[in-house]
Amino acid sequence: MRLIFKALCVAALAVAVQPLSAADIEAGETKYKQLCATCHGDDGRGDGPAARALRPAPRDMSDPEWQEEVTDEHIRLVTEKGGPAAGLAPTMTAFGHALSDEDLDNIVAYIRSLAE
Ligand code: HEC
Repeated sequence: MRLIFKALCVAALAVAVQPLSAADIEAGETKYKQLCATCHGDDGRGDGPAARALRPAPRDMSDPEWQEEVTDEHIRLVTEKGGPAAGLAPTMTAFGHALSDEDLDNIVAYIRSLAE
């Protein structure tokens, strides 16, 4: 009985220690590869197979200068509402309909992980 109690305490502690809202980069990567990589490229370099047909082309999101300048809010806004919501091209369409809040957090975290 005691052992079970101890095991439960350890489990409860493990759950408590994990920040519940931490974005999950790997989950973000999975969604990104499904929805974004055709244009943005697997590593966000703007070299997906569809990128050549796009004017303007998507930028290199692994560029450290851009990563420093850009805010999480901007990445999230453009992803959720599309390019025009931030004065960018409508070829960057809105993905809000396909993504939950959590998905958006995860994708932002994945894009942030692309910095060189
Ligand atoms: C059909 C091609 C296409 C797909 C699919 C696409 N994008 Fe884009 N995206 C673009 C283009 C083109 C731009 C550049 C628009 C501009 O510079 O005016 C862009 C711009 C962006 C930007 C703004 C970058 C900047 O310069 O500030 C972000 C962030 C972004 N996309 C995220 C995403 C995410 C996340 C997904 C997947 C959920 C995605 N995009 C899917 C074409 C696409």
